[in-house]
Amino acid sequence: MRAAASLNLFRKAADVLRLNDMGGWTRAAPQLYPHQWSWDAGFIAVGLAHLDTGRAARELLGLFEHQWKNGKVPHIVFNPHAPAESYFPGPEHWVSAGLFPDAPPAPPYTSALCQPPTQALGAIRIWKTAPRGDRDAAHSFLREIYPKLLRWHRYLATARDPEGSGLVTIYHPWESGTDNSPRWDAPLRAVEVGDLPPYRRRDLGHVDDPSERPTDREYARYIWLVEKIKETRCDEAKIYGSHPFLVKDVLFSAILVAANEALLEICEVLGECVTERDEVSAWIERGRKGLESRLDPGTNLCLDHDVLAGTPIHARTVAGFAPLIAGSLPPKRLAGTMETLYSPDFLGHPALRRALPPSTSPNQPGFHPRSYWRGPVWPVAVWLIWWSLLRAGEHERAEDLRSTALDEFSAGHFAEYYEPFTGEPLGSDDQSWTAAVVLDWLATE
Ligand code: SER
Repeated sequence: MRAAASLNLFRKAADVLRLNDMGGWTRAAPQLYPHQWSWDAGFIAVGLAHLDTGRAARELLGLFEHQWKNGKVPHIVFNPHAPAESYFPGPEHWVSAGLFPDAPPAPPYTSALCQPPTQALGAIRIWKTAPRGDRDAAHSFLREIYPKLLRWHRYLATARDPEGSGLVTIYHPWESGTDNSPRWDAPLRAVEVGDLPPYRRRDLGHVDDPSERPTDREYARYIWLVEKIKETRCDEAKIYGSHPFLVKDVLFSAILVAANEALLEICEVLGECVTERDEVSAWIERGRKGLESRLDPGTNLCLDHDVLAGTPIHARTVAGFAPLIAGSLPPKRLAGTMETLYSPDFLGHPALRRALPPSTSPNQPGFHPRSYWRGPVWPVAVWLIWWSLLRAGEHERAEDLRSTALDEFSAGHFAEYYEPFTGEPLGSDDQSWTAAVVLDWLATE
């Protein structure tokens, strides 16, 4: 990209983060998502790190003010000033502080779910990009955030993995962050929805075309699962004993491995935390082993596991590259993964507008080019693959992906997701995390 065009795009991306800045925290998008989402915040911190060290640190510290007593970081912290009709299910639906013994004091209220732990990736990026004058502040930030990150990761490694498998169990597709991916079709189909109080979806009011969002059938199951979790008052043992949706999520688990590596880097910087180092290293090892145990040798993709059915979930999606994201693949496994990534199932598909990974392979039954996680290209998923290629030493491939992504996203919509065959921007415009990853890509120029 030419220098002037890069600078222009950088400024536009920075403007999106400013537009969505609610005074110390960032809403995920102006209309569709008026609250703070936890995995968004990790990516947003990566972007903010290039603009303002203190503000980036605030994004994460603010999120962790709402950490639950058991270490969980809620997937949404609700903006008390957002109009009630802007988002469903909103704070009144969760009423988490009154209902759940582990929830923090409220308001602001939080949801009772969680999302992939991207925050340590943001924290280490803040440290690494801090200009000389901000080093002391960045160091203090790491000292403050470290114990919070540790408690969060420990919650995931224990409460969410009672089997010690190295893989995180999710209770809801929303916890995966990839809500309507075909990964969840089979386990969701098995959920029998009972009597639901009447509700009105708000998400459809914010997009032009309802086919870009999950269907009503999917939504009924989402809301039913929320009701089931509320019934247990978020008691993890009870959820594990009775919940109708328990799935080992490989993408979530891989992000946890990568986040634990970031935690070890933070330990190095702080020069302490000797005792925890062994604990975190053990989580990393267990996570990588767990992911390898879920490899489908036929496709070289890693598969989620339906705990209740006791079966692997066969779906060709970007989550299948989980071991690449977890890192440290031996050369032969890395070569096999590259073969799959560049095959006609993904980057090599002849109809793609540009060689960017679609969220779901166009060759997968259930693929839909416009529907949320069933096919569109998500900039944050591209960023994860790019960042993983860099860590794997695949510099040329990473650079190709970065420049292709910048070409695709340079029109400046900063859309939530993109149609893979036409490049049409879909979902919300001015999505914060899209702006954040674009900033990160441009900052490496
Ligand atoms: N991703 C879900 C939504 O679209 C819940 O976080 O609202």
